[in-house]
Amino acid sequence: MNEVTDLQPVPRARAMPPFRAMQLLAEARRLESQGRDIIHMEVGEPDFKTPQHIIEAAFQAAKNGFTSYTPAEGIAELREALADTYEARYGVEVNPDRFIVTVGSSPALWLIFSAILEPGDVVMMCDPHYACYPNDVRYIGGEPVTFPVRSQDGFRLDPGESWSKNVDRAKAFLVNSPSNPTGAVVDHDDWRELAELPVPYIISDEIYHGIEYGVKSHSALEYRPDAFVVSGFSKLYAMTGWRLGWIICPENFIEPLRRIHQNLFLCASSFVQKAGIAALTGPQGEIKKMVETYDKRRVFIVGALRDMGFDVPVEPKGAFYILTDARHLDENSERLSHRLLNEAGVAVTPGIDFGQEAEGFLRFSYATSIESIAEGMKRIKGWIDSL
Ligand SMILES: Cc1ncc(COP(=O)(O)O)c(C=O)c1O
Repeated sequence: MNEVTDLQPVPRARAMPPFRAMQLLAEARRLESQGRDIIHMEVGEPDFKTPQHIIEAAFQAAKNGFTSYTPAEGIAELREALADTYEARYGVEVNPDRFIVTVGSSPALWLIFSAILEPGDVVMMCDPHYACYPNDVRYIGGEPVTFPVRSQDGFRLDPGESWSKNVDRAKAFLVNSPSNPTGAVVDHDDWRELAELPVPYIISDEIYHGIEYGVKSHSALEYRPDAFVVSGFSKLYAMTGWRLGWIICPENFIEPLRRIHQNLFLCASSFVQKAGIAALTGPQGEIKKMVETYDKRRVFIVGALRDMGFDVPVEPKGAFYILTDARHLDENSERLSHRLLNEAGVAVTPGIDFGQEAEGFLRFSYATSIESIAEGMKRIKGWIDSL
């Protein structure tokens, strides 16, 4: 029997906005179940399978009985492998104790916000931004404050712009490079200036590190040793469903964050942590090939979009997204993406998902085969020609 109740979630819970990209995916799946053929360019995850040696490591660990809780902060072997990786990639020495292994980078962000924000504290971030950031900040009781970055500047997070004068009002400044949804990468000089901003906390979301084209991502730790870093295995290692990520926190936060993590999550999955070690220390050839493949698709899609009359002033340099102005077709990105889905059979994410500044834009994910991208572009071109 169904329960009938007047009980309601608290307003804070009711106010949590949906993830529009997921709603669009659900609508696309509904159309597919009716027999429609849909090209998926809305999905923010690699289309590649996790490399076999990583799967094997998890499998072996589970078979060997490595199936119990681990310490809340994660197993030492993984935290040491992570510390070695930071030394090798960025030349920074990080005490393995500063790592907290999490169930992906999403809860890592929550843990950090919950440990640094008092009610009303401001977190500054650029717009467009990853859809979840302001939602998470609000849910914790903080206040997200955004500033624009623009397509014609390659969505550069330029520390010389006027927004930087307001940073002293913020408790934290959030950087995401390479960026979802813009693909912009913060370079060495800009990082140097960002690190000087008069803001207590810098939080650096480095989840797309390693997926970059002709440039190299820098870790916030190269410039601000006390920065909070959030990252994970989802994107570079094609491990979205494994749910494995990490925080690097300043020394003073190690104990409180371990306790919060323990209370909320106990720990990340034990044998998945073993898979993480294999990802970091095993062969990297397959990973390199994935990134080369994303690059080929990137070049292809930039060309195809430009040929169709979309404005792509600066090519994305990282991640696997391109955010392009589509206001010549429709100022309302949600309406446009629904029309593209229903009338052209192509699923793309509406820019409004990533902030007000991205309204009228569309985010294309090129984490799909070049054949699919070509077919998607052909369908969109046909749709535009028919208007
Ligand atoms: C910028 C950014 N940060 C964090 C995440 C969350 O990644 P995960 O929780 O899988 O580590 C995503 C996922 O799309 C993302 O795009």
